[in-house]
Amino acid sequence: MSQRRAPVEIIRFDQVSLGYPSGIPVLYNINCSLYSSGFYFLTGASGAGKTSLLKLIYREVKPSKGVITVFGRDVASINSSELPQFRQRMGLVFQDCRLLPHLNALDNVALALRVAGMDLKRARTYGKELLHWVGLGEHFDFLPASLSDGQKQRVGIARAVITRPLLLLADEPTGNVDDRAAYKLMLLLEELNKIGTTVVVATHNRVLVESFSHPELHLARGELSINYSQGSHGDTAQNTHTRSKAV
Ligand SMILES: Nc1ncnc2c1ncn2[C@@H]1O[C@H](COP(=O)(O)OP(=O)(O)OP(=O)(O)O)[C@@H](O)[C@H]1O
Ligand SMILES: [Mg+2]
Repeated sequence: MSQRRAPVEIIRFDQVSLGYPSGIPVLYNINCSLYSSGFYFLTGASGAGKTSLLKLIYREVKPSKGVITVFGRDVASINSSELPQFRQRMGLVFQDCRLLPHLNALDNVALALRVAGMDLKRARTYGKELLHWVGLGEHFDFLPASLSDGQKQRVGIARAVITRPLLLLADEPTGNVDDRAAYKLMLLLEELNKIGTTVVVATHNRVLVESFSHPELHLARGELSINYSQGSHGDTAQNTHTRSKAV
């Protein structure tokens, strides 16, 4: 009989606060642990700090206070030359897509595999499979400028998942697509989760949050709370401040 591996803590926030130099504090005293193979929604009103929290995890910004540990490493100790390697185990879906403008959809997706050393032909074969999956089988050779916002977003998702990362951080990955496409993209992320990727999806879409049973990390007034009523599938998250436990 197969046994589920015990979850390992892969992201930990200890008393983390963030304030941008030019503005008011955004996040205040966040304490939280996320575990391997979990699937988490990250919610909160516009401006609540969802993108900022994801940026803290992939070390695009540093906290003003507190310690963030990712894959067992204090992210503040990672210097800029180590960042590419640190991020190699992550798939990032950016809210603003960030596709390379001079590469077509297929090569944007295949690039991550090329960087990991795969030959062009195989990388493009995998890239085509994924573009088909996200409904862009007819758009391999389109440059980003010729794609709609929703299509760009789907290319961004394909690019982020193609390497089967250990951790996927997806910032509003379905913000520009219709409900049907959003649902299908979520199924793709669930597939990835089932084969071992920890997934964090920042979203405003209540229908998605309520359709899929996963814990919800909710940001309001700079504080994080965790709603487990969405949670099942053995997902765990722990708010280490209140020591509340997943059910
Ligand atoms: N580089 C920055 N410099 C100063 N303030 C910033 C910066 N980036 C974000 N902020 C501020 O931090 C707050 C949180 O922004 P963030 O983008 O994290 O919110 P969000 O929850 O992702 O919002 P949305 O749902 O609109 O994407 C906002 O008040 C924003 O103005
Ligand atoms: Mg955002």
